[in-house]
Amino acid sequence: MVRLLIMLIMVAVITISCQKSDLQKESRSPGEIAFRSNCQTCHILPKTDMKTDAEWPAMVNRYGEKAKLSVAQVNDIIAYLIANN
Ligand code: HEC
Repeated sequence: MVRLLIMLIMVAVITISCQKSDLQKESRSPGEIAFRSNCQTCHILPKTDMKTDAEWPAMVNRYGEKAKLSVAQVNDIIAYLIANN
């Protein structure tokens, strides 16, 4: 009986954590997705609060050019960083 209970709790925990990670994936904006996939090829992913609203655009333009990103991707990334710093 105790084993059955433990198994049930484990199944419930796994189900809940899977649902959570699905939600997180869905809530990622295009800017966050582009940031995560393009800004850690040369170094670790920078922290969003590493730069101010005024500093991020120049940074993303500079490294976006190196990473050969489109203007739309650069703008999405800037919007994401400014909203989250
Ligand atoms: C082509 C390789 C490359 C890519 C791609 C790249 N970076 Fe960098 N990044 C560097 C290098 C090299 C440095 C060290 C400083 C320098 O030499 O420019 C750096 C440093 C930084 C710094 C610290 C600079 C400072 O003056 O404090 C930030 C912030 C940064 N990168 C953000 C980004 C962001 C945002 C992206 C995605 C758009 C990105 N990087 C993509 C190469 C890259």
